[in-house]
Amino acid sequence: MATPAEYRTPKQLDALEQSLRAEMGTLADDRAAEEFRIKYLGKKGLLRSLLKGLAGMPENERKAFGARANRLRADIEQEFKQAPWRSGGATAEHSSFDPTLPAAPLPIGSIHPSVQTCDEICDIFVRMGFDIAYGPDVETDYYNFEALNFPRHHPARDMQDTFFVSDSMLLRTHTSPVQIRVMEKQKPPIRCIMPGTVYRHEEISARSYCQFAQVEGLYIDRDVSMADLKGTLLAFSKQFFGENTKIKIRSSFFPFTEPSIEVDVWCFVCNGSGCSVCKQSGWLEILGAGMVHPNVLKAGGIDSEEYTGFAFGMGVERIALMRYGIDDIRLFFENDVRFLKQF
Ligand code: DAH
Repeated sequence: MATPAEYRTPKQLDALEQSLRAEMGTLADDRAAEEFRIKYLGKKGLLRSLLKGLAGMPENERKAFGARANRLRADIEQEFKQAPWRSGGATAEHSSFDPTLPAAPLPIGSIHPSVQTCDEICDIFVRMGFDIAYGPDVETDYYNFEALNFPRHHPARDMQDTFFVSDSMLLRTHTSPVQIRVMEKQKPPIRCIMPGTVYRHEEISARSYCQFAQVEGLYIDRDVSMADLKGTLLAFSKQFFGENTKIKIRSSFFPFTEPSIEVDVWCFVCNGSGCSVCKQSGWLEILGAGMVHPNVLKAGGIDSEEYTGFAFGMGVERIALMRYGIDDIRLFFENDVRFLKQF
């Protein structure tokens, strides 16, 4: 290898530049490039040591030679970095790697819109004094049906298309079984909400999916009445949907409540004048509710002579759909980042 001392004039440096260019043109792969880099551009490489040859040179020559040597090094470095064979691998990268630069930011995810909605619902009830409880997704037939006053061959079981795991085990079709689990563990007064995922063997469409989230509510104490239920749900609706919200109560049927009701809220999208979200009715159905059936209290070990209670259950995605004006429930489960990023 040429030694720095061989180069003493700018002319010699011109010749060196030419030969380096030619050599760069022959570099076939990263390994050859790395060898070139070490030989000429590295800390102990030729181009960095050229100035050592300056000793003993007359002042004016030294100046011209120094300037030329510096330019040569800068030019070759630049060209080496931009050369087409550079694969971005370990080789040339190192020469320009700056460990003090801040790292490239990692993309951060966001909370899923159905989880956000569920959290908001729960927060409102927690502020009203409700506790939170959870139950298992894989349930027994007893908790999902029997204890909730669905006898074995009761036709109401057909309302809930069930995924069975075995004869007696299933994926819960609603969060109501958690009511029984809470009653078994706690004595009244009970004020509890129970969020969770539920599963239905349903045909998948824009309106229904085989899995979704519910928030169940339960309040048991002495003298709990329908008026308490109505007041609680109205207070919730005002906080969630806005102060001017109105609710409408319709009678309904569930085996585990008597009487049973369904609750609609004033369509906040069109202010009740009729739109596609409320199907021109001005109202949106948000939940089922009712006074806990005495048989259900009994199954939970609570004396139905002494205590009464109300319960309710709402579908989280349904509420999120209305709230965000989304027209297809499947979007919640497809994990398309373009959709999820918007929340
Ligand atoms: N479990 C019912 C369902 O999934 C919803 C429901 C209705 C829950 C009435 C309740 C209730 O607690 O009282 O369709």
